[in-house]
Amino acid sequence: MTSTSSYKRMLIQTVICLILSSLFVSEVHGAKAIYAFGDSYIDAGNANASNDPLSWTKPYGMTWPGYPSGRASNGQTQLDYVAEKFNLPSPIAFQQLKNTTNLTQGVNFAVGGAGVTYCWGHPTLHTQVDQFEAFIKSANISKSHLKESVAFINIGLNDHTTYHGELQGIPAWIDIIVDGITYNIWRINNLGIKNIMVTNLPPLDCGPWATYINNFTSCTKNETLIMENIQHNEILAKAIQTLQHNTPDMHVILLNQTQAMNYLLSNKSSGFVNTTVPCCHGWGELGYWQCGVNNENGDPIYTLCSNPSETFWWDQGHPSDAGAKALIELYWSMIGFTRFGRNIESWIRRYSI
Ligand SMILES: *[C@@H]1O[C@H](CO)[C@@H](O)[C@H](O)[C@H]1NC(C)=O
Ligand SMILES: *[C@@H]1O[C@H](CO)[C@@H](O)[C@H](O)[C@H]1NC(C)=O
Ligand SMILES: *[C@@H]1O[C@H](CO)[C@@H](O)[C@H](O)[C@H]1NC(C)=O
Ligand SMILES: *[C@@H]1O[C@H](CO)[C@@H](O)[C@H](O)[C@H]1NC(C)=O
Ligand SMILES: *[C@@H]1O[C@H](CO)[C@@H](O)[C@H](O)[C@H]1NC(C)=O
Ligand SMILES: *[C@@H]1O[C@H](CO)[C@@H](O)[C@H](O)[C@H]1NC(C)=O
Ligand SMILES: *[C@@H]1O[C@H](CO)[C@@H](O)[C@H](O)[C@H]1NC(C)=O
Ligand SMILES: *[C@@H]1O[C@H](CO)[C@@H](O)[C@H](O)[C@H]1NC(C)=O
Ligand SMILES: *[C@@H]1O[C@H](CO)[C@@H](O)[C@H](O)[C@H]1NC(C)=O
Repeated sequence: MTSTSSYKRMLIQTVICLILSSLFVSEVHGAKAIYAFGDSYIDAGNANASNDPLSWTKPYGMTWPGYPSGRASNGQTQLDYVAEKFNLPSPIAFQQLKNTTNLTQGVNFAVGGAGVTYCWGHPTLHTQVDQFEAFIKSANISKSHLKESVAFINIGLNDHTTYHGELQGIPAWIDIIVDGITYNIWRINNLGIKNIMVTNLPPLDCGPWATYINNFTSCTKNETLIMENIQHNEILAKAIQTLQHNTPDMHVILLNQTQAMNYLLSNKSSGFVNTTVPCCHGWGELGYWQCGVNNENGDPIYTLCSNPSETFWWDQGHPSDAGAKALIELYWSMIGFTRFGRNIESWIRRYSI
């Protein structure tokens, strides 16, 4: 009897140990590197300083690294925080690759202003994936390295904000954007990256690019923009589902950026004092996009808040460092902010990433 119960106890202890050790093992993120594609939400130095100086001027980068670093933020972007979670360096900006660069540390191809379509004239998602393809060849990046790496894609906002066609044209425009995203997910997978994180749109009616018309007081609740947003997200989710269904070995997780941002913008307990007014912004119809611009005397023509960690938005288009961090925290461990995986943590465990 005694020996049976001590045997049982031993058995239980062993099982507990096994469970604990498996939990511990699954905490270890084994991704080798991150390859990133998209726009200013994750650009970290690809935008051309002479053509596109915005993210290269003060006060960009004021919180981190303390000077402008080519990021459209006061600090880190969503991508930087993803890298931090994986215990990896943030992938180096493609334009900053040097001969001395460690070529297996990941590359960030994202460029401010980019879209699936030509938008503002910056390298499109397709061009970025072309660059990735050429990079793999020239740097002789191995299939096994890519297989153990992850991709991060955040794109689409510029395609929507630069659309100035008829209302009837919006569904066709959405199809073009979603087709472009889906096709390039397929290409990235085909080039060897199996595990891919993709965001949908930020809330089109609630970002400062929309709310400036009411002096950043509240979401515009513009029905057209809300429908455009919903349709883009639905069609993207369906397209990815179909693609995964037809592509063995592809593991996409969709990050519901619309929902995550709306949640942080509307939930008082998320900790942001100001969820509509960006920390750094100009005034008036022409000036609202003027964070960092000075007049001829060198004086700022923009307003800068005293504590960017209290505002969700940094400037007229981009989350603050604190905003980006809060988004990644939601995707990483909360439930309900992702599709094709309960959250990034569980996605990592499921596919042993
Ligand atoms: C940046 O723009 C300038 C001016 O148009 C151009 O001369 C330069 O080649 C560009 N740099 C890159 C890296 O594209
Ligand atoms: C970098 O590599 C290029 C092409 O391989 C070569 O032409 C150039 O001299 C190298 N630069 C340095 C500083 O090694
Ligand atoms: C290159 O980067 C990878 C990924 O961060 C790292 O594991 C590796 O040790 C680095 N190699 C060198 C020589 O620094
Ligand atoms: C590319 O890397 C593979 C190993 O991954 C090696 O066998 C091959 O020789 C390399 N090719 C070149 C051109 O360096
Ligand atoms: C926004 O603010 C400006 C300057 O304070 C003011 O002139 C304008 O009437 C305001 N617009 C709205 C829609 O409140
Ligand atoms: C809603 O947004 C669309 C697209 O930007 C715009 O054309 C329309 O005028 C807006 N509607 C209202 C009521 O502001
Ligand atoms: C994203 O979240 C919204 C709720 O905010 C939901 O209606 C939508 O279905 C979600 N999209 C996906 C692809 O999960
Ligand atoms: C607001 O956030 C808190 C903390 O994250 C959460 O417990 C609560 O359910 C949220 N409320 C709503 C309405 O989403
Ligand atoms: C948000 O910021 C604006 C402008 O800096 C300020 O007038 C307003 O009082 C702030 N709102 C809150 C709730 O702090």
